[in-house]
Order: sequence, then structure tokens, then C-alpha cells
Amino acid sequence: MGAILSGCESEVRSSNNNAAKLTNGEQAAASQNIEVWPKLNPALDPDPAVEAKISHLMEKMTIEEKVGQIIQAEIKYITPEDVKKYHIGSVLNGGGTYPNNDKFSSPQDWLELSEAFFKASMDTSDGGVAIPIIWGSDAVHGHNNIVGATLFPHNIGLGAARDPEMIRRIGIATAKEVAVTGVDWTFAPTIAVVRDDRWGRTYESYSEDPAVVGAYAQAMVEGLQGDKSDADFLRGENLVATAKHFIGDGGTVRGIDRGDNQVPERELAEVHGAGYLSALPAGVQTVMASFNSWNGERLHGHRYLLTNVLKERLGFDGFVVGDWNGHRFVPGCSVDSCAAAINAGLDMFMVPSDWKALYHNTLEQAKAGEIGTERLNDAVRRILRVKIRAGLFEHIRPLAGKDGILGNKEHRELAREAVRKSLVLLKNNEKLVPINPSQNVLVVGDGAHNLSKQSGGWTISWQGTGNTREDFPGATTIFEGIQAFVAASGGQAVLSESGDFSASTFANGGGPDVAVVVYGEEPYAEWHGDIASIEYQLGEKSDLAKLKALRDAGIPVVSVFLTGRPLWVNKELNASDAFVVAWLPGSEGQGIADVLFTDENGNVRYEFSGKLPFSWPEFVHQTVLNPYHDEYQPLFALGYGLGSESESTVSNRLSEDGETYSIGELEDAWVLVSRPRAPWGLYIDDAGTLTSVTGNRMASPDDENITVASIDMESQEDARAISWKGARSGAVRLMANSKQDLSRYLAESSALMLDVRVDRKPSHSVTAEVRCGDGCVGALPLQSYLAELEPGSWASISIDLQCFAEQGADFGRVSEAFALASEEELNMAVANIRYVPGAAENAMVKCAG
Ligand code: BGC
Ligand code: BGC
Repeated sequence: MGAILSGCESEVRSSNNNAAKLTNGEQAAASQNIEVWPKLNPALDPDPAVEAKISHLMEKMTIEEKVGQIIQAEIKYITPEDVKKYHIGSVLNGGGTYPNNDKFSSPQDWLELSEAFFKASMDTSDGGVAIPIIWGSDAVHGHNNIVGATLFPHNIGLGAARDPEMIRRIGIATAKEVAVTGVDWTFAPTIAVVRDDRWGRTYESYSEDPAVVGAYAQAMVEGLQGDKSDADFLRGENLVATAKHFIGDGGTVRGIDRGDNQVPERELAEVHGAGYLSALPAGVQTVMASFNSWNGERLHGHRYLLTNVLKERLGFDGFVVGDWNGHRFVPGCSVDSCAAAINAGLDMFMVPSDWKALYHNTLEQAKAGEIGTERLNDAVRRILRVKIRAGLFEHIRPLAGKDGILGNKEHRELAREAVRKSLVLLKNNEKLVPINPSQNVLVVGDGAHNLSKQSGGWTISWQGTGNTREDFPGATTIFEGIQAFVAASGGQAVLSESGDFSASTFANGGGPDVAVVVYGEEPYAEWHGDIASIEYQLGEKSDLAKLKALRDAGIPVVSVFLTGRPLWVNKELNASDAFVVAWLPGSEGQGIADVLFTDENGNVRYEFSGKLPFSWPEFVHQTVLNPYHDEYQPLFALGYGLGSESESTVSNRLSEDGETYSIGELEDAWVLVSRPRAPWGLYIDDAGTLTSVTGNRMASPDDENITVASIDMESQEDARAISWKGARSGAVRLMANSKQDLSRYLAESSALMLDVRVDRKPSHSVTAEVRCGDGCVGALPLQSYLAELEPGSWASISIDLQCFAEQGADFGRVSEAFALASEEELNMAVANIRYVPGAAENAMVKCAG
């Protein structure tokens, strides 16, 4: 509770730097106090002509047509015929969905599908009213779902630039690229103000500073939609924008995606509301409800926040769209039925696949009065208002199908400018950078020539995974940018991902004069990207090894760090002479060379000007670190960033002891929560043959004796189904590369907890294991417990860690946090595997201790 504030009075600085005081009483309860929200007028004056047109349309609409308007389905699951038949109001393409299921669909293919949906929506042959459909897409760093688009740096990098005017230009460019494909609406910007950097959407946030988010939200909305006073506002080359995710998405406890935000209302308004207070006056037309809850109540069903605050107090007259099946989290709701969300103030359901069932149920609820007529009419009125304002009835699409806009030179130049301005220089011993280019430059690291890694999540695919060079026509890697510039300046740059080099590496026979090492996080997106620890390469450290090897060879080392959030990198900092945070720069990798190198005469070409949008941690426990926090002791403060000429001040001997668990309370140790959590990786062990489980489905070689597949328990792919055919005995193991000290979990009476589902009661031996290297294992028979479960249903199991210890597990050096072994045929599923402090007492399986 009150995660970021403690003491009886804490300060929350609002955008204008007036200090607002929070008292203890306010922190304690979620008592509602509408006064903490400013009273805003609607951004646009009511337009009687528009309202009259809406009334006219609505008089003719049947209740079926009205319900159709409030449904948004996904293009994989709906056809133009369906749109016509059910009078569906909207479609979206999710991350990684393309027309015809083809990643390489051309802009023309996108446009054709869009035209087909439009025509279907305007088809009145069944006697209905023609209402244009609206198509939404996540253009969150450029039109990132389409191959060939310009990919701008992710928001966190833009935050470092502190340049709202540039943000506006990026909005304009993005709108144009989207408009080419016939998409009317983008689910951007994300205006989350992040508190716990372990959240997997931290990079979608501009900053932890509400003032930066406030300024950017306005600029981006104006860039995407146009200025509200312009004649072509929302039309022509402009789009409809979304402020998301309302509200408090960045403030969930422990940074858990879709979790609970427990701050007092004043903080909700002043910190998490900062972007809304500027996006709404700028005229943003849609707001997306968030998955998260506020003090236990889900936003999708939050009448007070959606209706009383957003629509009434903040004067929002556009429409509230749900997030991906987000309504199903509301108590009493399911994916296909949720009157409560509409009644609370949601105007449009985002219901990708189950739209038909939801449509029928909602229609029944509307007919039965479970959803009031007035509320349904208000939702439809809001949707029609936005459609009219956006000119969808006129269907004027000046950019539709135009060649030469998507990924054009001008937009790529702008993205490159954004890359330059996003770079934050943290360390620069002896002014190593900017580097003179007329030298031998060794370019090292798996991020140097890797467009996937430099682009991050929400890139062509949802998680940004599975992309190769072919998926980025027109893009430039960081290495390519360096290579071209250095070559043109009389030097030579050579790529060596491993860092190895020899006497023949450089044409001039010399050794490297400097090494530029590019490394960092692998792509991820929402909720898959949540992490348990902010330590970079926890349990691995292969990049550190490269830095050290170069250092040992006497080569000055520049780190270029690709990341979606601040991470604990003291070791990497110590091993680098200079350290640049490049965030997730996107398609224009040349922007890095622009700043990293001087001209051939040693003159600075572009200053390092990026300022940290997030505070940088000195210790591993500093996951919630911002100036609004009482104990603010960052390694680098919010706003830090060296200029090209400034002296570096950071020590070369930062503490390398992460002090992970000695400070503060011991938290749950996640092993597999949605996905395996670092340092743990999931492996199939088929009679000794190990297979690493990487995709959604993986099987042991040859006869697929053991299979692991991702399935849904509560949310997408949060569980794993495991099947043993029984040809040989085998196991699934959660293993780390190096031994982990988990002894504090044993000391603090923890239990291993997991959710399981058995498809049939096992009649043979099934064991749970914790391993600690060769011959060191604690194994427990599990079948009698599994036999008590009801087949086909999920149940949770908890085992006192002491039981594993008594059987021989040494928690001081754990190599496998959990394994399940079976000798014969078995089908079961597992989820949420974790060590929970204090849970031993009530564990299902207990031991003496
Ligand atoms: C979709 C994404 C969506 C996600 C929600 C994915 O399958 O492609 O667009 O955000 O599911 O869980
Ligand atoms: C995400 C949203 C996104 C939507 C559609 C959801 O899972 O939370 O940000 O707009 O999917 O892809």
C-alpha cells in the first residue's frame, strides 16, 4: 500500500512544480474525492449540427444496430460480411495481425481490406443505417505493424529527448504512414507514468516524470490528430488518437502488468493523470480503459473513474474503448458477457474473437433493461460523434494507397534525429566519446547488427520476436551506420559480435583502437516483459565477459546499451570507459554513429543531449526509484546526461554487490509466471536429452515423447501444458546457468507454490524436484497429491521448501528451482510457479523443519 510514499507527509510535485501535500489519511483509503481532479470543459465546443445529425441517425437505428456499434472485433476473426450483418462499429488489428494473415501484406492489401470493411458498413441493402466502421491499430512507434514503415524510437527514448516539438512532428509523420493503409485510428499515445521499472511496458512510457508525460501527451495528440482549431482536425492526413490506458497502468504494485494500483486518489490524479490533463484539452477523441484495477476495482468496471471523473469532471465527450477482452476481469463478467462495463461507462468493447457471443448477450441485456437505454444511447452517440468529427462519413482519404509515404526519407530522417536526441551519456572517462572516426573501430555485441533488438516489442509482431532482416526493408543497423560513417572518414569499422579479433581483422593490420559494444535486452512487450529483478543478465553475464576481455586486451570500451528500462548495470559500467543508453532506437540505427563520432577533424557533429527520462538505480532493490520517493538515492538522477564536452563523474568502482535481497522485504521469487523468469529457463529433459523450450510449443526430438505448449489459464499463454507419452521417463526443468542462492527463502519459511491441472489422475510415480548441481537433489513424490485433484480443473499446490531440503536440496546453490518428472504417460498443466515467503505454514505439503 502507498507504494511510493511513506512518512506522514510526502510531496508530489505537479507539472508546474507547485508542491501538493498528501496526508496520511488520504493515503490510507481509496475514499473518493472528485475535487482532486480539475474541472475541465470539453475540448471542443458542442456542435449543434453534429448532434442533430447523430440524433437523426439514431432515430433510425434499431437496437441491434446500436449494439453492433459498441463492438470492436479483430480482423482475424471477422469478415466484411459479418460487419454488414451485425452492423459492427469497429475493427482492430492486434499486434502481429495482418490482412490475409500475411506479414508481408502490402499497403495496398491493408487498404483493400479497409475499403471492404468500409463498404460493408455502408451497405444498406438490408435496410439498415449506413455508419462507417472505424479501424484501429497500435501505431505506437510509427506504423509498427506493417513491414517497411519508419520505426521511431520507443517512447522511453523520446522521453530522453525532452523535445515536445519533435514529438509533434513524429505524430504527424506517423499519422501519414497510417493513413496510407486506410487505418483511421491509432491506439497511441501510451501516457503511463511508470513507478516500478520491472513493468514490461516501461518503454511505452515517456517518463517517470508526470511533467514530461504531460507535455508529450499533448504534443503527440496534436501531431496525430491535428490541431483542434484546424479545419482538417482528425481528417485528411490526420488520425484519431487514443490516450491509454486509463488510468494508473504505470503504478501497479511490483510493476505487474494488469495488476492493482494502490495509490491515493490525489496521486492517481497528479501523477498518473498528468497525461490526461493535457491530452483531453488537446482534443483526444478516444480513451482506452486499462486492464489494471485501482485499489482492487477493475478499471473496466469503474463507474466513478470512467463516468464521474473522466466524462463528467474532465469533460471527455469522445468514447471509451476497452482493452483486449479487458472487460472479462470485471466481477461477474466473462469475455462474452459484461453489462457491468457498459453500465460503468465503457462505450466500446474490444473483443477480438468472441464478438458474436458478446454481441448476442449484450443485445439481450439491452432488451431486458440490464443495460439502460440511456446508457446505450450515450455510448452510441459518443462513437458516432467521433466518426462524424473524423470525417468518416465523407470517406475522404487523401493519402490512401499513396506510394512513397510509408518509410520515406523524410520520416526516416526524423526518426534518425529522434535517435540522436534520445542518447543518454552516463559515463565518459577521459572524454573517450565522441570518437574520432579515422581509426580502427571494433563493433561488438549481439545488438550491433540486429534490427529486432534495436526495435524492441510492438514491432511487426506483438512481442517483437521472430523478426529477421527481411522484415525491415529500408532500415539501418547500428553497425551499418557506424561502418558507413567510419569508412567515409578514413577509418575502418569491423563487426565482431563475439569481440574476437586477430591480426587480419583490420585491413591496415593494426589492432582495434576502440571497441563499441552494443548489447541489451531482447524484445518483449506487455506482460511477457515483466521481470522479477532489474539486474541485467541475471545469472548470465555474457556481455560483461566481452567487455572485460576487451578491457584486458587494453582496448578502450564504449558500451551502447539497448534497453526498455533502467537496469542494474554496475558491473557493466565498471567494465566500460564510456556508457551510452540508446533505449530502443527503432529502424534508424545511423543516429547512433551521428553522435558517437566526431568528424574526421575531431569536431563534434551532434551533441549528446539526451537526459534520463527515468532515474537510474545504484542497487538492485531500487525498482521504485523516482524523485517523489522519500529515499531517493539514484546512481544517476532523473534528468542526468553528460554533454559531449562534460567530464564524467561516476566511479569506476561502483559496488558490484547487488544487495538484492538484504534490503527490504523478501518478495516472491518468480520461477515461471506467464513465462520462465530470469535466471530460470524452461527445458525438456527426455531421458537425459535437453531441449530448451523457446516457442509456444516445443517437443523432445524424434518421437516427441515430451511436449510443452503454451496455453491460457487466466490470460493469454500464462500456463504450460505438458504431456509425457511415456516412451521414456523424463522431466521438464526450470534451470539456471549458474547456481542461485535461495537460502533466504528457506530461512523465511517459504513454500513452492504453483497452479496445476491434471487431465487424468496419475497412477504412477510423478516427482517434484529442486536441484543443486550434480547429485544434489531434493525429490518428493507428488502423485498422491495430484490424485486428489479434480481432473480438468485448476488447483493450487503449495509445498514447504523444507521438504525439499530434507530430501537433500541445498538452497544455497540452486541450479533448478523446480522440475516435474514422470515415468509414464501423463497430461498436466502448470502455471504461476514461485517461492512465496511465509507460506510454509499453510502449505499443503508440510515437513518437520
Ligand atoms: C495481440 C495483441 C494484444 C495481445 C493482448 C495479442 O495476441 O496480438 O495486439 O495486445 O494479444 O493480450
Ligand atoms: C494492449 C493495448 C493494445 C491492445 C490492442 C492490448 O493488449 O494492452 O495497449 O492497444 O492490446 O493491440
